[in-house]
Amino acid sequence: MRILVLGGTAWLGRTVVQHAIDAGHDVTCVARGSDVPTGARLVRADRDRDDALTAVSREHWDAVIDVSRTPEHVRRAVRDLEPVADRYVFVSTVSVYASHAERGADEHAAVVEPSDDPAEYGAAKVACERAVLDVFGPERTSIARAGLIGGPGDHTGRSGYWPWRFSRAVGSGRAVVVPARTDRPTSVIDVRDLAAWLVGAAEGGRAGVHDVTGEVVTLGQHLGAARAAAGADVPVEPLSDEVLLARGVAPWVGERSLPLWIPDDDHQGMNDRPADRARSAGLRRRPLGDTLADVLAWEQLQPVHPHGAGLSDDDEEAVRAAG
Ligand SMILES: NC(=O)c1ccc[n+]([C@@H]2O[C@H](COP(=O)([O-])OP(=O)(O)OC[C@H]3O[C@@H](n4cnc5c(N)ncnc54)[C@H](OP(=O)(O)O)[C@@H]3O)[C@@H](O)[C@H]2O)c1
Repeated sequence: MRILVLGGTAWLGRTVVQHAIDAGHDVTCVARGSDVPTGARLVRADRDRDDALTAVSREHWDAVIDVSRTPEHVRRAVRDLEPVADRYVFVSTVSVYASHAERGADEHAAVVEPSDDPAEYGAAKVACERAVLDVFGPERTSIARAGLIGGPGDHTGRSGYWPWRFSRAVGSGRAVVVPARTDRPTSVIDVRDLAAWLVGAAEGGRAGVHDVTGEVVTLGQHLGAARAAAGADVPVEPLSDEVLLARGVAPWVGERSLPLWIPDDDHQGMNDRPADRARSAGLRRRPLGDTLADVLAWEQLQPVHPHGAGLSDDDEEAVRAAG
C-alpha cells in the first residue's frame, strides 16, 4: 500500500512510519524536519502554507495518517487529499471528552466544543476530527482517540520515570516517594501498539471513532509493574495527597511532579476508558511490564534524569525532608 504520513519526524509519527515500512508498505512523509526512518520518502513542506500539499496531491494514496493538532492544517489536507486518497486516519486524543469524571465511559461520551486554537488541545482536536469527517465521511475516516502514550522514546517522562526511579534507588538506601493513594486508575498505551493500530486502520476495516488506550490498572499495580521491571525490591515512602500538594509536588507531568498521580477525583475517568470497541476491532496491547522494561532500557541511555516529569534526587530529598 501507498501510505502518506503527515508528520513522521516525531515520536509517534516515526514509530508509525517504521511499523508501516516493516509491514511492507510504501511510505511518504510530509514534515518540515528531515529525521524520518530509513526507507521512507520525505517531502519537506510547512503546513502553515496553503500550498504545502500541492506536490503530494498529484499522487494516489491508499491511506493518509495525520498527527496534527492544528485545525487549519487538517482542513487544507482534507481539501487537497480527498480526491486522491482512499482513507484518512486521524490521531486524536481522549482529551476531546467534555468530562473526565465518569469512569468506564466509551466513545459515545460528549466532547468539548471545537476551537481553531491549537493551544486549546482537546477542542482543537475536536475541530480536526470534524474537518476530516465532513470531507472524507464516516466510511473513509478512522479516528483514534489515544490515551496516555508510553514506551521507548517517551520524552514526556510519564512512562519512564517510575521504572527509572525504582532502578536508581537500588542500593542507595533511600526510599522512593510514592503517592499513598494507589487505588486510582491509570493506563498507558504502548507507542508501538498504537502505531500498529494506526497502520491497521490505514489498511482498512477500522472506520469510525475508537478510543485507543492502554489496559486500565490501578496506580498501585502500575508501581508494582515498574518495580518489577526495575528488578528493584526497594522501600517506598507513601505520602498522602495533602502532604504532596503542600510540599509543592505537581500531579501528572512536568517539573517536580509525580507522574500518573491525579489527586482530583473529577479526573479519574481520563485514565479509565476501556477501549472495548478498538479491542474488538483488533487492538493488541502488550503487557504493561514489557512496556516499562523497554522504556527503562531507553531511559538508561538518556543523558538527563528526570526529564519531562518526576522528582530529581534533590527534589525527592527536599519533599521527604519537608516533613
Ligand atoms: N503524548 C501523549 O500521551 C498523547 C496522548 C494522546 C494523543 N497524542 C497524540 O499523538 C500524536 C503524537 O504525534 P508525534 O509523537 O508524532 O508528535 P507531534 O509532536 O505531535 O508531531 C508533530 C508532527 O507534525 C509535524 N508538523 C508540525 N507542524 C508542522 C508544520 N507546520 N508543517 C509540517 N509538519 C508539521 C512535525 O514535523 P516537523 O516539526 O518536522 O515539521 C511532527 O512530525 C499527536 O497527534 C498527539 O496529539 C499524544
